[in-house]
Amino acid sequence: MDLENLIEAAKNARERAYAPYSQFRVGAAILTASGKVFTGSNIENASYGLTICAERVAVFHMVHAGEKTPEVLVLVTDTEEPVMPCGACRQVLSEFSNPDLKIVSVPLRGQAKETTLRELLPYQFRLKDLQ
Ligand code: THU
Repeated sequence: MDLENLIEAAKNARERAYAPYSQFRVGAAILTASGKVFTGSNIENASYGLTICAERVAVFHMVHAGEKTPEVLVLVTDTEEPVMPCGACRQVLSEFSNPDLKIVSVPLRGQAKETTLRELLPYQFRLKDLQ
């Protein structure tokens, strides 16, 4: 699976967003070490705070399937600037990835940006800190 295919998967996932309140549709796709792809889109709720972001849907899909080694996360938004995962998603990602998880944000009307989870969330609080 190359990056272009992963971006395609995230674009398709974005089409399945449920965002009647914000109209802001987000797609996410995770490639794991085993070569599998798990996707997610944002799913909103009339009780706004219960909304879940595309990134967490993709991570939970992956974990539920028994996988815990994401290698790349692609995010797709219909924006000019690349959108980065919110704080809650950064923490959830840190639970199930290595600190250097690669994150590629692809704005449909602009230039993609690549970063790492470590850059977005330095000094991560993780399971090892509880032991
Ligand atoms: N959202 C995501 O799905 N991922 C992000 O990285 C940013 C925000 C969603 C949540 C909500 O449904 C909508 O975008 C507007 O905040």
